[in-house]
Amino acid sequence: MITIHELRGKYIEFFKSKGHAEISGKSLIPDNDPTVLFTTAGMHPLVPYLLGEPHPAGKRLTDYQKCIRTGDIDAVGDPSHLTFFEMLGNWSLGDYFKEEALAWSFEFLTDPKWLGIPKDKLSVTVFAGEEGIPRDDVSAEIWKKLGIPEERIHYLPRQDNWWGPAGETGPCGPDSEMFVDTGKAACGPECRPGCHCGKYFEVWNDVFMQYNKDSEGRYTPLKAPCVDTGMGIERTVAMLQGKKSVYDTEAFTDVLAAIGRACGGTYDADAESGKSFRIIADHARTSTFILGDPGAVTPSNVGAGYVLRRIIRRAVRHGRKLGIEGSFLPGIAEVVIATYAGPYPELTENRGRILEELAKEEAKFLETLQKGEHEFEKMLPNLLKNPRKVMSGRLAFKLYDTYGFPIELTEELAAESGMTVDRPEFDEAFKKHQELSRAGSEQVFKGGLADHGEAAVKYHTATHLLHKALRLVLGDHVAQRGSNITAERLRFDFSHPDPMTPEQIRKVEEIVNEQIRRDLPVSMKVVTLEEAKAEGAMALFGEKYGESVKVYSVGDFSKEVCGGPHVEHTGILGKFVIQKEQSSSAGVRRIRAVLE
Ligand code: ALA
Repeated sequence: MITIHELRGKYIEFFKSKGHAEISGKSLIPDNDPTVLFTTAGMHPLVPYLLGEPHPAGKRLTDYQKCIRTGDIDAVGDPSHLTFFEMLGNWSLGDYFKEEALAWSFEFLTDPKWLGIPKDKLSVTVFAGEEGIPRDDVSAEIWKKLGIPEERIHYLPRQDNWWGPAGETGPCGPDSEMFVDTGKAACGPECRPGCHCGKYFEVWNDVFMQYNKDSEGRYTPLKAPCVDTGMGIERTVAMLQGKKSVYDTEAFTDVLAAIGRACGGTYDADAESGKSFRIIADHARTSTFILGDPGAVTPSNVGAGYVLRRIIRRAVRHGRKLGIEGSFLPGIAEVVIATYAGPYPELTENRGRILEELAKEEAKFLETLQKGEHEFEKMLPNLLKNPRKVMSGRLAFKLYDTYGFPIELTEELAAESGMTVDRPEFDEAFKKHQELSRAGSEQVFKGGLADHGEAAVKYHTATHLLHKALRLVLGDHVAQRGSNITAERLRFDFSHPDPMTPEQIRKVEEIVNEQIRRDLPVSMKVVTLEEAKAEGAMALFGEKYGESVKVYSVGDFSKEVCGGPHVEHTGILGKFVIQKEQSSSAGVRRIRAVLE
């Protein structure tokens, strides 16, 4: 029976045999992308290349990428939803198109040398055509040639067979999805691939990227059409192993057993407690990967840190439901680290941080729970006087804002006293709060992709100058911890223990502006990561040794491994001004700067 580790290996091996270069998956925290909190698909880190930037490893790429999707976080607990998953992918950057992509997908799925899925169990969907974009007969013809009969080719509308990234903007196009018939009875005459009754299991998606959608909703043809494919490891292995649920695969075996040990029970998928087991298993895995990521996110009240906090706390809550009193998440995280130590060495490298942050957040949350419950009890006599038995959203928000008490818990406590919470009012207050903090939260999931407009590109280059200037002024311990660029400003997080003095800030500004005045040329070359490091290029994270990387040099001043794009010379950047320098998290400072 194939395992998750074997599937990962086979996929990469297959595409290498078809001339693809294996590249390393990237951080879960998108670099230079202010509009999404997490990497949501394998294509996400490749957006600049899908839009036309040359990739140092060539035009045919393959990798496995850790992804997080929290859009339907509330559905976690059922047998199929995961917030973290691994996606296998292969890409053509203006190289091959439908013919090869579909033929290779078919070969990998059905050839006994690879996955050996019986051909007669395979159904596919193609784009039915909509809004002036024609039906994808080309793909349908290819499928027929490969041996899929007409009756197992389904034409579906945009809603099913069109793919764009998590955001509203970016590269997109019609796709063709592959489904395996599980042998279950059809749920009705309309049952077909895409139906959610469980008969058809989606295993792969080949996207034919032909357009770039901009923020005004316009579609412009890409310079060169690309292929982007995605296969979810957990789902596919569950199907290949004949399992009913992703939670029945070895991705979760040891984790569920560890939860059982912590609560003195065993996982029973069908029992009421099964849901809590699954929520803890999923959330412990996701938080371990976030904390183990080089992106160095820690629990906080905004952005990715807020999502992390929320899932840790939800896991703790379900731990309590299972009767676990003390700290248990670090123990579960150890099991996740062991399960994934091979493909994700960063988990072992960051083991200390993972365990420590989980323990800290658990302790903080327990304190919060006690305080919040106490406050709620104080409010209760007054609340009960309300004849409608509705707690105002404003009060619920106060509990959240002042004590960090999660809204879900307020709702639970309210329900215990026969009340509901005015959720729209709470959401309104929460939204205002998020707007104020400017970092966004849930909204961000729906955002677009990184801005590669002229203004943003200038900030990209300014960020390199800032990074180097900080190292000159503060020392070589300064390393990038995060970067977030819009057309209006840059934000840069870096490791440094103390607040900067006004003198240091002035000095950094001066150095950056000096490089702008020198109008330094920006140049790029492709080398291996070892060569880049040997030359003293600043390299962040993510790349594997031996892999080709792009090194951008700004004159003789800075040299950094980076995907680009950048301006051609620094003279056009304008005046660099640091607006704010503040703490971001323990040992990490944050600078906000503009070009005037
Ligand atoms: N990017 C495509 C997906 O996520 C392949 O389904």
